Amino acid sequence: MKKLIFFLLFTLLSAPMYIYGKSGFAMWQIPSQVNTIGNSYVFLTDKGRVIVMDGGMKDETLFLRGFIAALGNEVEAWIVTHPHNDHVGALTEILKEPKGMKIHKVYHSRFSDDLLRCEQPYDKYAFEFYEVLDKSGIEVLNQTIPGLTERIDGLNFKILGVTNEEFRMNPYNNSSMIIRVWDKEKSIVFLGDAGVECGNKVLTGPFRKDLDCDYLQVAHHGQQGCNEQFYKTIKFKACLWPTPLWVWNNDQGQGINTGNLKTFETRHWMDEIGIKEHHVTCVDGLFKLE
Ligand SMILES: [Fe+2]
Repeated sequence: MKKLIFFLLFTLLSAPMYIYGKSGFAMWQIPSQVNTIGNSYVFLTDKGRVIVMDGGMKDETLFLRGFIAALGNEVEAWIVTHPHNDHVGALTEILKEPKGMKIHKVYHSRFSDDLLRCEQPYDKYAFEFYEVLDKSGIEVLNQTIPGLTERIDGLNFKILGVTNEEFRMNPYNNSSMIIRVWDKEKSIVFLGDAGVECGNKVLTGPFRKDLDCDYLQVAHHGQQGCNEQFYKTIKFKACLWPTPLWVWNNDQGQGINTGNLKTFETRHWMDEIGIKEHHVTCVDGLFKLE
């Protein structure tokens, strides 16, 4: 009898470990469903709660709905790096019509109307996103200064950079939130679409040490994001690339590296740094990190 009770207790107490894995969270890098530059990450904590970062483009809404539904259709926290349509398009559609999906909190760093108007025609998507977010009734945590640290089950995240109203060159990308996510076994830094100024502001700021990590999401889908000095200053072991094939190969129909994108420059820097582990959405497909 004692043996039976011990067995049942052991089975019940260890069940979440079997279901959700040994570490604090699992993360999926979601590949583009329409061969474009959507940016989308989904996390599942060790206690089964779901966190989403960005979510990709409007055309990827159906896929994302299915992915989240398979995990229980309830999102504890949705983190938005910046309101470009390749990051908030799907979320905008979900907020318009949740179809049963429950979202508890949205974390973002809101742009002023003045900053929003700096990029046309993208401002129309951003204004629409803010409009539906305001109407949603969801709790919104607007980050006006960096430094917030949150823990959801075994997943920790920290906001290292927020909206930079002072940068009017490349204004949306240079106002990407920069976010560190970690558990006891791994750390990931998400650069969103950070441009040179946005990256360097964190690099020279009080959260510099938080940029060192195991996995680094390369800025702006891997090209024309942060600069060579940024990548060669921080320490990381592997790269996450939310990058479709035509961006990865800089090929817009005329052959490899014939376009005007700078992806091969970033790829070359990574070779020089000695990074051997790359997870590229157009190469790996759906990538799960545990
Ligand atoms: Fe983007």
